[in-house]
Amino acid sequence: MDSKLRIKNVSAVLLLAAMVIGALVMVVVTAGEAVAATDYGKVMEIVQESVPGAKEAMEPEAASAYPSSAVAELRRVEASAPKEVIKLPAPRMTGGKPLMEALKDRQTSRSYSPEKLSEQTLSNLLWAAWGINRTESGKRTAPSARNFQEIDVYVALKEGMYLYNPQAHQLELVVAKDLRKMTGTQPFVENAPVNLVYVADYDRMGTTSEENKDFYAAVDTGFVSQNVYLFCASEGLATVVRGMVPRQELAAEMGLKPTQRIVLAQSVGYPAK
Ligand SMILES: Cc1cc2nc3c(=O)[nH]c(=O)nc-3n(C[C@H](O)[C@H](O)[C@H](O)COP(=O)(O)O)c2cc1C
Repeated sequence: MDSKLRIKNVSAVLLLAAMVIGALVMVVVTAGEAVAATDYGKVMEIVQESVPGAKEAMEPEAASAYPSSAVAELRRVEASAPKEVIKLPAPRMTGGKPLMEALKDRQTSRSYSPEKLSEQTLSNLLWAAWGINRTESGKRTAPSARNFQEIDVYVALKEGMYLYNPQAHQLELVVAKDLRKMTGTQPFVENAPVNLVYVADYDRMGTTSEENKDFYAAVDTGFVSQNVYLFCASEGLATVVRGMVPRQELAAEMGLKPTQRIVLAQSVGYPAK
């Protein structure tokens, strides 16, 4: 390139730079910001905020790094991913049928509509099952031998398997997979929107004998299950407690420790129409 041409190019670049700086100063003035012209970072910030398209023009790689179809796909996957934590609304501790009516209506049902339970109904159900009803002592809606509170309620939903945390009254994701079908051996199980799995943590029962642990775990689960039966009778929901559970396979899927034993499962949902 000859020297005349190079000088011309350099002048053109200088002229362009002067124009850009001039434009920036004007934008700063029109944006009404009292910013020293030497505060380059601040000037850039104001330009990016006040000039439509400036941000993308200044950071072209940021705007075009991902095609819009990939961004849309990412958003879709994010939206369908199960939540790590489902913060349940406060349970409603009033209302429902009078106890004698609920006892009259208690029954086992084995046909379910796939309709989901609302978060409020799930909240009420789990609180009734095994929630805290005396905050000062942390005691629960069902009794447990020596107050071991060794039962955990796992909740199999379409979105995944969750653990009910009664202290925080929330569901915590354990496995991001639909394990409903795996909680039983009968065909209706996979249709129920909720399958509860009662797991006894033998580590929480101290040094009492294995025989006692088996006995306490079974009896304590029975109380939780009956709470669910009565809640369902009160709310017009269908439920069945189930001993037929493929325990080994399910425990492996749930990643349980050897000292966590699956006692029973219980399906809950609206009755099939
Ligand atoms: C410990 C236990 C295990 C049960 N296991 C099953 C089961 O695996 N599958 C099932 O369909 N019902 C099961 N049931 C439900 C009983 O069959 C049911 O409670 C019984 O037929 C009486 O009916 P009711 O609950 O309507 O009074 C079980 C009940 C209990 C108490």
